[in-house]
Amino acid sequence: KILILDFGSQYTQLIARRVREIGVYSEIRAFDITEDEIRAYAPNGIILAGGPESVTELDSPRAPQCVFEMGLPVLGICYGMQTMAEQLGGAVEGSHKREFGYAQVRIDEETALFKDISDHIDHETGRSLLDVWMSHGDKVAQVPDAFSVIASTPSCPIAAMAWEEQRFYGVQFHPEVTHTLQGQRILEHFVLGICQAERNWTPAQIIEDQINRVREQVGDRHVLLGLSGGVDSSVVAALLHKAIGDQLTCVFVDNGLLRKDEGDQVMETFASHMGVRVIRVDAEDQFLGKLQGVADPEEKRKIIGNTFIDVFDAEAAKIEGVDFLAQGTIYPDVIESAAAKTGKAHVIKSHHNVGGLPETMKLQLVEPLRELFKDEVRKLGVELGLPYDMVYRHPFPGPGLGVRILGEVKKEYADILREADAIFIEELHNADWYHKTSQAFAVFLPVKSVGVVGDGRRYEWVIALRAVETIDFMTARWAHLPYELLEKVSNRIINELSGVSRVTYDVSSKPPATIEWE
Ligand code: XMP
Repeated sequence: KILILDFGSQYTQLIARRVREIGVYSEIRAFDITEDEIRAYAPNGIILAGGPESVTELDSPRAPQCVFEMGLPVLGICYGMQTMAEQLGGAVEGSHKREFGYAQVRIDEETALFKDISDHIDHETGRSLLDVWMSHGDKVAQVPDAFSVIASTPSCPIAAMAWEEQRFYGVQFHPEVTHTLQGQRILEHFVLGICQAERNWTPAQIIEDQINRVREQVGDRHVLLGLSGGVDSSVVAALLHKAIGDQLTCVFVDNGLLRKDEGDQVMETFASHMGVRVIRVDAEDQFLGKLQGVADPEEKRKIIGNTFIDVFDAEAAKIEGVDFLAQGTIYPDVIESAAAKTGKAHVIKSHHNVGGLPETMKLQLVEPLRELFKDEVRKLGVELGLPYDMVYRHPFPGPGLGVRILGEVKKEYADILREADAIFIEELHNADWYHKTSQAFAVFLPVKSVGVVGDGRRYEWVIALRAVETIDFMTARWAHLPYELLEKVSNRIINELSGVSRVTYDVSSKPPATIEWE
């Protein structure tokens, strides 16, 4: 396994995912980890990741010096390379000019890191050239003694360095991003070749490990799980069912703000097909009752969240002999990031849809996805036999249609929105556009607009369509859907739904707009 030290770069998580894609487990820890903690984790090698700060400033973060004294292979990436150079006696030069984007590096010395890797050949020197992605201001001006320069670009003469006997390497460019074409192979060389890490991080292996761990933790006692129909809780349900069968009880709360047929689908997949014990609570009236007359988005979110807790708790209290509460917490929710330590770095957004439980229940947590990234959770879901469409479904916010009906929520609006949304999603699938967008949905606008149908005049509601492309949901671009597709969706919604006279398409990017409308 590999240890990744975080200095606050937004790419740190990507490095961890890439290493795991190679089949090797990796964990992210903050840069100020202690030697004892490193020994306890027992990595095969260490990657020092990037960061937004400058090594030339005295109070900027450093790797613990022991990292270079433990005899382990070390790869520094960007800031990680700079701090390695500085800490081992080289020099880093500050710069106000950032180099950002595509660059071509020339490999100047053959090492295990770049072995047999080449995108082009430099005709003048006969050396290999790599297409890479750079993003840096500072750069290494002098390598430490014993290191040699192994790659260069015209504007960055020390683009990579190595001390091969010690198995220390540094690259100024980012091998973890796909724009660095051979990046994954470079990481493979480090992780498999140089670190000799074992390739045992596969969905089947993860499932087997987790099943054993859950059985050990739970014994013959009982576990409660709030099943939402989302990817994470669904995968937890499937995994726990496999591990402990009837010792698992799921509670599925239908709040009346779900997508069309969602409740039935959840029951069919889990209860009918897999034989999971699922209690479905129909709480539509309770939720809509509490939301009556409330228009403020944050107020609505709070009400929906609190009502969920009330309903879930009431249901949980009816079940006897439960000792554990399972949750779909995933790795990005628990990474102890450098952001918190330096206060300057990129803050990772996460949503915590975790209910509270009555104090008296005193439940212990079961969190089998705690170490996994979303893409790994999905692979696990497929391996566990969950339907592909469920596992690869777009994310859906906890408050559901409650934040997609602007202003006050009413059943009439929710019913119209569900149908409009289902038409939009169906047509996206038909046109093969669903998986090209990251999230797509309809929004209900409680304003009336005039239209004509046949000879009649019609005065009805407006539906807005939203579709975005994004990697991390922190920034997003509106999806450039084909006009024909939008036309078809619009026609179907207006013709099939009597309450809608107009359809619009949202062309706002995030930022400054958000993905949801509320
Ligand atoms: P925004 O609207 O902030 O959304 O650009 C980013 C992502 O977060 C989802 N989202 C939520 N998820 N509870 C959730 O579980 C919420 O209250 C919530 N608000 C937004 C949104 O759907 C998008 O994927």
